[in-house]
Amino acid sequence: MVAPLIRLARDSDAHCIAVMSRCLIEVGLRGWSWDPARVKRAMRHREVCIVVAEINHRIEGFAIAEFGDTRMHLSLLAVNAAQQRQGIGRSLVAWLEQSARTAGMAEIQLELRANNPGGRFFYEALGFEFVRAVPGYYSGIETALRMQKTLRSTIFEKAEFNFSFKNKHL
Ligand SMILES: CC(C)(COP(=O)(O)OP(=O)(O)OC[C@H]1O[C@@H](n2cnc3c(N)ncnc32)[C@H](O)[C@@H]1OP(=O)(O)O)[C@@H](O)C(=O)NCCC(=O)NCCS
Repeated sequence: MVAPLIRLARDSDAHCIAVMSRCLIEVGLRGWSWDPARVKRAMRHREVCIVVAEINHRIEGFAIAEFGDTRMHLSLLAVNAAQQRQGIGRSLVAWLEQSARTAGMAEIQLELRANNPGGRFFYEALGFEFVRAVPGYYSGIETALRMQKTLRSTIFEKAEFNFSFKNKHL
């Protein structure tokens, strides 16, 4: 397989991303949560990063992530069915994980539908751990699984901070 080009999404990608979200992630849920207008709004948000995986000028995968103070939230991720199991999903997450590490994030968190064992296996293969089930997360009716990957230990940093703080007042 040709290695995918991972790049930031452009306005003209919004429709394709929204359709992939509807068909690959939101399938069976009420309404269309990530429609093209929402994807475009997200692109303009300073704390949101949207990346696409392109092969031969065709978008085959995408991911949407939100950066908080210490946590990156992976909101959406999908790869076209015909291109799955070729490392595209792994490349998208690796790109975002590198950005999260550079930005000093302590962890990456995400939710996925409880009836998506393939998605759970995928995230586990990438080092994510199950945190807890969140009932009603999708459309108020469907349960989500929350998963998390720790990038750096905040407990150690807090201990270090307390230590240096105390020392200053000796
Ligand atoms: C989940 C998804 C993004 C994975 O993307 P992908 O490009 O197929 O995944 P990769 O090829 O990078 O897989 C990396 C590793 O994850 C694991 N993995 C991926 N899909 C898996 C599956 N269905 N079952 C078991 N393990 C899986 C494997 O260990 C794989 O490595 P391998 O192929 O060398 O064995 C893709 O299947 C998808 O778009 N699914 C529909 C939407 C979705 O579920 N999104 C995630 C929740 S929002």
